[in-house]
Amino acid sequence: MNRIKKHYIITGASRGFGKDLALALSGENSVLHLFARSNMDALRKELRKSGSEVYFTELDLLEKDAPKELMAQVERNVNRSETERIVLINNAGMLEPVGPAGKHDGDLFRKHLELNFVVPIALTHVFIEACQKEPCHKRVVMVSSGAADKPYYGWSHYCSSKAGLNMFVKVMGLEQEQQPDPIEVMAFNPGRIDTQMQEIIRNTSEEDFPMVNDFINAFKEGKIGESAEIAQRLARRIQSDYFPSGKILSHRDI
Ligand SMILES: NC(=O)c1ccc[n+]([C@@H]2O[C@H](COP(=O)([O-])OP(=O)(O)OC[C@H]3O[C@@H](n4cnc5c(N)ncnc54)[C@H](OP(=O)(O)O)[C@@H]3O)[C@@H](O)[C@H]2O)c1
Repeated sequence: MNRIKKHYIITGASRGFGKDLALALSGENSVLHLFARSNMDALRKELRKSGSEVYFTELDLLEKDAPKELMAQVERNVNRSETERIVLINNAGMLEPVGPAGKHDGDLFRKHLELNFVVPIALTHVFIEACQKEPCHKRVVMVSSGAADKPYYGWSHYCSSKAGLNMFVKVMGLEQEQQPDPIEVMAFNPGRIDTQMQEIIRNTSEEDFPMVNDFINAFKEGKIGESAEIAQRLARRIQSDYFPSGKILSHRDI
């Protein structure tokens, strides 16, 4: 049987960068497995004529067994003997709560760390378990941020969760080099892009986030990236042979 199907699993596909990635990766022989809490009917319409096979699942990734549930759902729609590649894109993320450490309710910080750090790693674990021995191309992308390397006042949890993802990628890259059928893994920093997350940033108080005016001015001056364009560039890299495993790439590199 021909191995022609390209499977893309995308978390946080209901809007923003995840939605743009789904559109950029669509096409003949693409199978999109899309996850978010909201209804994705608008995206369903946009993808109708794309030639892709698409599976939409409303799932709250913060639910206890979400990683296993997600992978089980994907496996129901994967015919292994037809699979040319399978890619997990850990994109879902949140910025809130913003403000200096110690200011906000601990439960909110926990939720943040769970979604931005624990869930992508837990999902990667179940992906490795399910796919390590598969004889197809296997890749994991962590959508990271420039904030992983740059401390911003008020973003202690966001900066540290993304920094943690970057280190996970470096370690997993090393480990996978030892595998006979390695899974390639990369972190990607899209830069500032025009999504709902940027709106949230612009609406934070100067007290909680002293850099807020810099983000407002960048937006007014058209100095933030277009999510759709950056998503197309990342999609090309995901589909290409060159995929530097264990590395952190930024929008400037691709
Ligand atoms: N925007 C930027 O400037 C920027 C810069 C650097 C990095 N990033 C990163 O890029 C990624 C995408 O961000 P974005 O800007 O597109 O943000 P966004 O517009 O806020 O979209 C976030 C996505 O995550 C999903 N999500 C949130 N909580 C979830 C949950 N509990 N379970 C399942 N899905 C959940 C949302 O869907 P539902 O609400 O429907 O669940 C939505 O689809 C994030 O990892 C972010 O950190 C963004």
